[in-house]
Amino acid sequence: MLTIGVLASGRGSNFQAIIDSIASGFIKAKIAVLISDNPEAYAIERAKNHGIEVLIINPKDFPDKDSYYSHIAREFKNRDAGLVVLAGFMRVVGKPLIEQFHNKIMNIHPALLPSFPGLHGQKQAIEYGVKISGCTVHFVDKGVDTGPIIIQAAVAVFEDDTEESLSEKILKQEHKIFPLAIKLFSEGHIVVNGRNVIIKSSKKQRVLISPE
Ligand code: GRF
Repeated sequence: MLTIGVLASGRGSNFQAIIDSIASGFIKAKIAVLISDNPEAYAIERAKNHGIEVLIINPKDFPDKDSYYSHIAREFKNRDAGLVVLAGFMRVVGKPLIEQFHNKIMNIHPALLPSFPGLHGQKQAIEYGVKISGCTVHFVDKGVDTGPIIIQAAVAVFEDDTEESLSEKILKQEHKIFPLAIKLFSEGHIVVNGRNVIIKSSKKQRVLISPE
């Protein structure tokens, strides 16, 4: 069975969606540990409520970025993690973790990549004036939100949408596609061919279009 390690910095609603998907049997995996860079993260409460080990690892306690991410990679390896999930981890992941978990780190981004990478994807979409936005689950590479795309979901952007209302619509989709991507990975259905992710599953669920 797949062992998952999670990194989260904040609210942790995606983390909760993953916990719930495991509890319901949708994903057959176990979460070994939550690592947070932020002692105030609500994700920590969620982990504790579900008996998941928590490590708070502060980058300030390390001389540089590489040693921070080497340490995190070691903690995940020590627990046999086969997948690292970034569930609202508000940092650009360092090389040692990316190299040791090549195509085994997943992130969720609140926009249809490659549009609007970086912070505040929903605000960027509103300000740009797009009519469709959404969210993307992708593998993490050295760039910022540039790794191979696994699943995307689309939502309509209406004239009266605000950053808040769009974020809410997108978040609902995040909570669907992140667990789905993890489920497909845990069942061995994901093959990465350069930039292209192929889902080898009888159910072709690569793109969920969900106009609301
Ligand atoms: C989400 O919008 C996600 O797309 C982004 O960070 C936010 C995390 O929210 N990467 P939560 O902590 O999962 O509630």
